[in-house]
Amino acid sequence: GAMYYGLNDLSNNMILLDRKQSRCPNGLVFGTPGSGKSMSCKREITYVMLTTKDNVIICDPEDEYSPLVNRLGGQVIRLSPNSRDYVNPLDINLNYSEEENPLTLKSDFVLSFCELIMGSKTGLEAIEKTVIDRAVQMIYQPYFADPRPENMPVLGDLLDALMAQGIPEAERVAQALDLYVNGSLNFFNHRTTVDIRNRLVCFDIKGLGKNLKKPGMLIVQDAVWNTVTINRAIGRSTWYFVDEFHLLLKEEQTAAYSAEIWKRFRKWGGIPTGATQNPKDLLSSPEIENILENSDFIYLLNLSAGDRKLMTERLNISAEQLAYVTNADPGSGLLFFQNVILPFRDEFPKDTELYKLLTTKPSEVAHDGESR
Ligand SMILES: Nc1ncnc2c1ncn2[C@@H]1O[C@H](COP(=O)(O)OP(=O)(O)OP(=O)(O)O)[C@@H](O)[C@H]1O
Ligand SMILES: [Mg+2]
Repeated sequence: GAMYYGLNDLSNNMILLDRKQSRCPNGLVFGTPGSGKSMSCKREITYVMLTTKDNVIICDPEDEYSPLVNRLGGQVIRLSPNSRDYVNPLDINLNYSEEENPLTLKSDFVLSFCELIMGSKTGLEAIEKTVIDRAVQMIYQPYFADPRPENMPVLGDLLDALMAQGIPEAERVAQALDLYVNGSLNFFNHRTTVDIRNRLVCFDIKGLGKNLKKPGMLIVQDAVWNTVTINRAIGRSTWYFVDEFHLLLKEEQTAAYSAEIWKRFRKWGGIPTGATQNPKDLLSSPEIENILENSDFIYLLNLSAGDRKLMTERLNISAEQLAYVTNADPGSGLLFFQNVILPFRDEFPKDTELYKLLTTKPSEVAHDGESR
């Protein structure tokens, strides 16, 4: 159904719209720091949770969604070397829809993961791809034969299956992987300990250090695909919110993965939304530019002069409309939905429990009593 996106600044009517009805429900939220990007995402998440049966996944690089997620009964997954929340990157789901082979999807993911951790500029060599794929085929056999949780492979099994091949290419991949299995980055070599099938899942990736950030984000995106695949089979939508989207666009693999999500998600019943203070980052490559072109929902909050110029060129904004994203109050701006452009404002009442769960002003933030 339709959801609330602010008041029309011209007519004072409520702006109610249903992103699912658009050609392309993908969304972007732009605005300077403090303009209300995260707040508008949290408002939408709240509506989705309270008025639909859809799933919501959040990628939260600033650790600011947990009060809201906990209050809504969701699962916060704190990915960090000091956390006890483990997600096994090799988790596989057998209840995919008919036409998808879970192993093919998993093999793709493991290839990206290995490419990332091997850090080569030119990508994996053909033989390296072959040895990885061969290892992937092998390590899932026990689980396929008997799908009990304790038969789910972990990265250590992948390492063993590579070593067992006894050729230099496999050895080379195994050496790179060793850091993530036996070395100091072995955080991902565990079976999953969190409720990743919760209707509302928030990945808090703030605690991932420099070395774990890239693989961590790749794992989050893989988890998103898993959920979308499962949900498609049962006809349920999946919303995916990425705050601080520029962090993902900065890295080649996570940028490519994001572009893929913006391209293919719709057909799978997925509704992605990226929020960022750097619209420029969406023009850094043709692949990433597709993200902007494939978004029917664009929420512009207050913009800097440079970004106003940029958006004027990209989105055909008139001088009159530009005024709505110039020195705009938090929560106000211009909404693009398919071929409609509407100025909006929103003043969320501050004397509410919900406001305390949505705000990022340190003095106003609700504390959920969890140690962090
Ligand atoms: N619709 C709104 N109604 C009332 N207050 C709002 C609204 N939107 C934002 N604010 C106020 O502005 C503050 C900052 O909003 P928010 O955290 O969403 O900014 P942001 O754009 O995500 O910033 P950053 O880029 O730093 O993450 C909120 O804590 C709140 O006090
Ligand atoms: Mg924010």
